[in-house]
This record gives sequence, structure tokens and C-alpha cells, in this order.
Amino acid sequence: MATSLKTVMTKRTPRAGAERVDARDKVRGATRYAADDARAGLLHAALVPSRIARGSVTAIDTAAAQRVRGVRTVFTHENVGSFDTGGFLMGGGFGFQSFYPLRSPQVAYRGQTVAMVVADTPEAAREAAALVAVTYAATPFVATIDAPDAQPQAQSALLPQPMFADRRAGDAEAALQGAAFTVDAAYELPVQHQNPMEIIATVAEWSADGVLTIHEPTQNAESVRHGLAKQLGIEPARVRVLSPTVGGGFGQKNSLQSHTALVAIASRALSRPVKLVLSRSQLFHNASFRPASRHRVRLGADRGGKLVAAIHEIDQQTSRHDLFPSNGTEITARLYGIGNFLGRERLVRTDVQTPGYMRAPFEHPAAFAFESAVDEMAYALGRDPVAFRLANDTAVDPISGKTFSSRHLAECLAKGSSAFGWARRTMAPRSMRAPDGSFIGWGVAAGAYKAAIAPAIAKVRLDASGTVRVAVGGHEMGQGIRTAIALTVARVLGAPVGAVEILVGDTTAAPQHLTAGSWGTATALPPVQEAAQRLMEDLRQKAGGQAGAQPDANGATAVALLRASGRPFAEAESRMRAPGQPEQVFGRLTGGLPAAAGPVYPDFVAFSFIAHFVEVRIEPTTRRIRVPRVLSVADCGTVASLRTARSQVEGGVVWGIGAALREASEVDARYGGFLNADLAEYVLPVAADIGRIDVDFVGKPDPRLNAMGVKGLGEVAMVGVAPAIVNAVFHATGKRLRRLPLRLEDLLES
Ligand code: MOS
Repeated sequence: MATSLKTVMTKRTPRAGAERVDARDKVRGATRYAADDARAGLLHAALVPSRIARGSVTAIDTAAAQRVRGVRTVFTHENVGSFDTGGFLMGGGFGFQSFYPLRSPQVAYRGQTVAMVVADTPEAAREAAALVAVTYAATPFVATIDAPDAQPQAQSALLPQPMFADRRAGDAEAALQGAAFTVDAAYELPVQHQNPMEIIATVAEWSADGVLTIHEPTQNAESVRHGLAKQLGIEPARVRVLSPTVGGGFGQKNSLQSHTALVAIASRALSRPVKLVLSRSQLFHNASFRPASRHRVRLGADRGGKLVAAIHEIDQQTSRHDLFPSNGTEITARLYGIGNFLGRERLVRTDVQTPGYMRAPFEHPAAFAFESAVDEMAYALGRDPVAFRLANDTAVDPISGKTFSSRHLAECLAKGSSAFGWARRTMAPRSMRAPDGSFIGWGVAAGAYKAAIAPAIAKVRLDASGTVRVAVGGHEMGQGIRTAIALTVARVLGAPVGAVEILVGDTTAAPQHLTAGSWGTATALPPVQEAAQRLMEDLRQKAGGQAGAQPDANGATAVALLRASGRPFAEAESRMRAPGQPEQVFGRLTGGLPAAAGPVYPDFVAFSFIAHFVEVRIEPTTRRIRVPRVLSVADCGTVASLRTARSQVEGGVVWGIGAALREASEVDARYGGFLNADLAEYVLPVAADIGRIDVDFVGKPDPRLNAMGVKGLGEVAMVGVAPAIVNAVFHATGKRLRRLPLRLEDLLES
């Protein structure tokens, strides 16, 4: 049956809400990024990458490189001097991996730094880097998760801690055996790289009295500070890290990079500021990435359409030197009320830099596999995929037995299906055609992401001039944390948004916890709001008003009260931590260590939820897949800043389209490393690939979680987009594709 696009298009929700406070500077090019530093006297560094995948450096000839005009020094493991490891973020340390190049002749992965040239100009540094002649002793290596020598090992045995253990409820094996309907399917996801627009760049500078300043885009300024202090053997008080604006983080900038200490060492040795800007290709090989994963999902359902059993097994790639844990079943165990659940994760060592977090690092792959299988089950049962999901909703977490702090997934599905026009969908595959003959497919999938919170200390200061200064832990990666903070403070103090100056990503302003895991808003905003309220209360009290009165009770703004008091300024502070966290957690915060809590809290579990509805159109001859429209409804608690929240979801949807149809980092197993390490061959969705994206929110605050009722949005936005697309492709064609990204040839095979 043909369905005309015109009749099902939903009206675009109006773009209400406040603007982005940093937009004007960005579009004018006024925002300064680390790589923009071009002051006189700056020296420039360039890295020399390893051309083998594993082994060691046996000789380095730097003579030709030294002869390039303007070259100051070629640093190698032989002359750089000793420096300490910064450790691994998931192992008590500070870095995305435990391996720090040039500490030895060891080569752990292709593209690893084996030397660094410092010169007067970037051109000289790069020319010289190409002339460094390295001799290696190569040893056998494992390039991919599927290599013959790859050996999956149980994560529960490798990392014997409760948070990495198998996830169990009931008896999944027995329940699966007794189930009337079963699905058993395997899914594959490739390596991907985050590819933020801003490449990682580091500027290191020492003051005359031995204080090191690092300007580097990072989501974790405090880990860079403490990690470098450890590596260089100096007091953390002697290191300042500045990351005021980050041109996209997505997990790639979430901790100490392996090269940062080298830049600091070079700067100290040469008594000049030194800048290193990685190339895009080096970014593929010297920072983290999304590991490849393999999933097997088994589902059991009864005749009434209830899911009774699920077993989700995941193999995920890690490096030889670190165990980057997998956590995909954290959300698949919570999407539905499946009383018998078993989640089992294994890790596969390969010779790469340590993989890490990339937007919805575990949740996107896990949801692709699980939500594809759920769709397969809906079809096995002959149930509508939305109705099937609604029938399996739950108010209680099957794993912990606790209630959810709030859960509006059913509302996301209901609101979404109504706005999308889902009722007009015909169930049978290949049953909807467009007037031009294209196959139309409509798919749905759900997503969840933990609602985590980290400790934070916020300070708000108001000057009689009207300027408000806010300092708090947090990093602006483009997601809009400055806008959310500005809106919150302006509302409480009755101040114009433009009067609020925000210091984030600066280790001298406030302790800077890692901003990741979608906890930025729930972490920074409640203490900012409380500090502003305290300031207001204090001003009102001094003005003779009642303590605790609502800030805007009589319409007086904070600055009017301050001026009336005759004081030059007023300030207030607030410290907050997650529910159930002890006071000592502030020690981890100030020590640069991860200190976030959730999703399991003492009295509840907390997740954000989302439902995605996708239309695909597939050209019948070439099988070209287009995605003319996506509609997503999110339950993220309070929406703190509507415009940036909407933008987050649009971005997540674009990432999902990329994940389903475009992105993969290719490996040649003979050589290791990544082949398509540039933006020409790492294929991303472009504007022409994106149709209409409609975004809506449930908008119900979650007051059990924190005073502002915010959960988190950045990552849940992407979770479930890929399976919704793949489910739509099944609906359009009758073909179940279980490997990402989808290729035309997968649809052409009969
Ligand atoms: Mo994010 S992938 O948690 O930085």
C-alpha cells in the first residue's frame, strides 16, 4: 500500500527557548581554541608515527631531520629522559591508556609515536619528522577482534569487581528453554573514530618560577593536571590546565593524552612555549576510539507477547596493555521488564592503542543488537513493534529490584508514534511503496542511558556593576553547558543572560571533574542553582526581607538588592554530590579521579529514555537507502536549555545515521592501524544525507534525582537510532541486516 509522505509529515515543533550564549563568538571566529595560539616565540612539534604494529625500535637516525633548517631537537626514547606513566583512567590513573610512548623502545601499535620533532615552524617540524629514519624489530600482532589469534576472555574473570560482573536476574537459560517463541541472532559493529571537528592540540608553557600551563581541549582538565604532575614529578599545584572551549569531545578528549607530557618536557628543555597539533591521521592512531564489538542476543517470549527471557553476550575489543571494560548490558537489561536476564561480556586483546569512550560507547552497540532482536521477536509474534514494546514496559528494574527515579519510555513511544503517524503503517515487509516506486520502511527502537551525577563545587559572585561570575566543574564541548548555566543563574538572580560570565574547564577556577557520561548538566546545574539561591537569600535577608523567600517574591533583582546594601559584591558557594555518595568523594574530585555515581543509587535506579521513529526509502534498483525523516522523543527529566537540548538530539540522530549507513574505521589485518584515517575516506553523513529531524521531550522533571530534576541527554540521543533505521530497512525490504554499517551489497544479495 502506498503511503504519501505528505500525509504523514508531522508539524515541526517550534524552536522556542533561549539562544546559545557562545554562538555569536563562535560564528565570528572569536572563540580561541588551543591550536589558534600563534604568538611570537612559539615552537612547533610534530610526531613521528611507528610503521609497525608491534615490536620495538632498534635504531633511530635523526641526522637528516636535524639538518632541516629551524629544527631545535628531535626527541626519542634515547634522549627524552625518564618520565613516569600517567596510568589508565579505568585503572586508578589519569590517561585514556596506560601506555606512554618514548618511555621505552617498545612499539605497542601502528601509528604510535616513536619520536617528536620540535622546530621553529610547523612546516620544518613536519618535514623533519618525515626524515627521521627508524629501524624496528617487528613481532607478531593481532589486528582485529576477528583475527585467528584473537582470544576472547570473560570480563568477569579479567576484572573481578561487581561493576564488571555478569548481569543476572532470574534464570535466563531455563526461561529461554521453556519459551514459546525464541530469537537467536548475532550482530557486528565496526571500529569507529569520534572525529570531532577540533583536532587535539596541546600548548605547553613554563613560567620562570616553574609553573606549567597546558592549553589543550579536554573533557577532563583535572586528570590532565594530576596526570602530568605525576608524570613530571612535580606538585599538582604547579600545573594549570585550560580547556575553556572544546570543539567536540565525544569521549576522545576525556582524559590525559599520551603525548601531552612530551610537549611539556620539550617546552621545559627548550625554555619556550611549544605547540603540537595532531594530524587527522594521527588522531586515528594516538587517541581513543570506539572498539569493534560482536553481539549474540537470545530472546524468549510467551504466547501472550511477553518477553520472558533474554541473554545478551558481547565481545568487545580492547588493547594488549589495558582492559577497557564493556558495559552494554547495563541498558539492555533495563529496557523492558524481562524477569530472566543474563548479560555476559568478554574482552578481546588486540594490538592497538586502548579503545575508549565514544558517544554512547556501549549503549549504541548494545541497543543496535538488542533492539534489532526485539523487532525480530515482534515479527515472530506478529505484533506491532510499538505495541510489543509498550506491552513489555516495566516500573521496576529487573536487575536491582528498585524503582526508577522516573521512567517515561512508554510516553516517549506513545507520543512519538502519534506524531509520526505510526498507525498508518502496514505491518508486512515491502508493503509500503512511494509513488516513484521506492520501498518505504518505518522502524522504531528505544534507547536508555544511565543518569549519572558527579560531585561539583560551584561559586557564584555578583558585582555591583551587574556582572555575575560563575565558576564550576564542567567542560563546554559545544553541548551547551554554558547556556544551561547562564539560563539557570539569570533566572534565579533576575539578571540578564548576557551578564553571566562562566568559568569552566579551568583548574584554577574550580575542581574540574570529567565531563562525560551525560552527567554534565545534572552535575553542574544543581550546585550552580543552589549557590545562586544562597546568594539571593543572603541579599534579601540583609535587605530586611524574610529568609528563604522566593528570589523573585517582590520582583527585586539581585543586583538591585546588592546596590541598595552598598556592598561592592556578594558571593556564595555550593558543594553537591550524587545521592548516596560519601563526603570523601570530594577528595577524588580534587584529585582528578573519576567520581561519578549511578545508575544504581540507594533508593532507585536512574536512566534517561528515548524512542526513535524512522522512515527509510530504498531505491529498488540500486537499493540506495535514504532517511527522509526521523522523529525522536526523549525523557531526560527537566529540559534545562531547550535550544541546546534539541541540538543534542539532532546531533545524536545524525550520529545514528552515520553509524547505521556510513561510519567504519577499516583495518588491513596484514599491517594493523587504520586505513581510512582522514575525513575523505572515513565516511560521515553530510547535509545531503540528512532529512527532517523532529525532536520532542516528555519534559517531566525527576525531582528524586536532584533539585533541578535533570537526568541527562547527550548520549541517550544516539541510543536506538541505528536499530530504528535497520528495523525500517527490514520493513522496507524484508531483509534483516545484522552488520553495521549497512552496505548496498547487503541488500543486493538475494
Ligand atoms: Mo562521553 S563518550 O561519556 O565522553
